[in-house]
Amino acid sequence: MNKRRVIVWGTGAVGAEALQSIIDTRDDLHIVGVRVYSEQKAGVDVGDLVDRPGQGVVATSDSAEILALEADLVIYTPRTASVTEVCQLLASGKNVCTTAFLFHPRRVDPTDRDRVIAACKAGGTSVHGSGLNPGNLSGVLPLALSGMSKRIDKITLQERADWSVYESTSITFDNMAFGEPLDMISPTGSEFLAFNSSLFVEQVWFLADALNADIDTVTAEVEAVAAVTDHLIFDHLLRAGTTAGQRWRWVGRRGDDELIEIEALWTVGGEDPPHWPRPRHGWTLTIEGEPSMQAHFISLASFTRELPIADHVHAASVATAMQILNAIDAVCAAPPGLATMADLPLVRSHYGFGNG
Ligand SMILES: NC(=O)c1ccc[n+]([C@@H]2O[C@H](COP(=O)([O-])OP(=O)(O)OC[C@H]3O[C@@H](n4cnc5c(N)ncnc54)[C@H](OP(=O)(O)O)[C@@H]3O)[C@@H](O)[C@H]2O)c1
Repeated sequence: MNKRRVIVWGTGAVGAEALQSIIDTRDDLHIVGVRVYSEQKAGVDVGDLVDRPGQGVVATSDSAEILALEADLVIYTPRTASVTEVCQLLASGKNVCTTAFLFHPRRVDPTDRDRVIAACKAGGTSVHGSGLNPGNLSGVLPLALSGMSKRIDKITLQERADWSVYESTSITFDNMAFGEPLDMISPTGSEFLAFNSSLFVEQVWFLADALNADIDTVTAEVEAVAAVTDHLIFDHLLRAGTTAGQRWRWVGRRGDDELIEIEALWTVGGEDPPHWPRPRHGWTLTIEGEPSMQAHFISLASFTRELPIADHVHAASVATAMQILNAIDAVCAAPPGLATMADLPLVRSHYGFGNG
């Protein structure tokens, strides 16, 4: 069997899970390179990075080394995504699957979009952005449910999450600005908040474009709420008075009608603001129309076994990584260009029960 050659770029919670799963379950894939950022990881055998046997491939923090490798696909999961890096990878003949951005590239900044398309053409490659949310829950699942719709009036996706348990604390505090003054939290409050908000704006456009909503605008708004008391989150002290809640709404409107809404109810420290709605933790997708439908999603390490909370939390990183890992064959087979969640065939588990 000709194995596909893959690179993993970024070995945080999501990338490490992808790497481990390739080693554990994907005989059809051959890891040819791993891009790391921390110096402690550079020079280490990639198996050792994820508590697995040696793979005979050493992780590198040198992007040029990665670019020079021959590979079919890159799993691109850094904390901060770069259009330039992705374009270099695509132009060098490597397809890209990413959880970080490019979920609906047709609605990104036109200069960036044109660069990505040109790189795909130059390299004969495709790029696919997906994950959990943005990803399956805001893209694949609504489209799958819409297969049962005669008419859609409104789609709402509500995410309720307590970030206190999220293992990637640099994303929680450095990027998402929990623990910062309330007035910093806005759709333009920092480069990252603007970037993050733009991903959800893109998701609203994605659904609108895929389902003939013909919306005029997508707006972003956020309410930040202060912590009542101090909280110790892993090794990070979140002080009373700083941001412990962020309620975001991204709304797609046609005229005055709200047709598509993604709402995020995010807290750190478990202080649920009393005036916020309290859907079940996880994701609730509601399609109002004919018929009206609702689905609730939550991922855990198990519904039957007693396991540490950290394992349950990590399940979301597993799901995020699997959504793009399971898309590898389809992305490699896709024609050069953008291979979005609406373009690819339904992504299903490659390993499944593992008995095949
Ligand atoms: N679509 C979704 O549903 C979804 C869900 C979760 C996460 N994500 C996205 O997926 C990506 C990975 O998330 P994660 O949870 O794995 O994050 P994480 O655990 O914080 O890992 C972050 C990764 O970024 C690397 N890094 C360190 N410094 C960096 C820098 N200056 N620039 C770029 N990367 C740097 C780290 O490298 P070292 O380990 O070598 O230090 C690590 O591999 C993020 O972009 C995140 O927003 C998407």
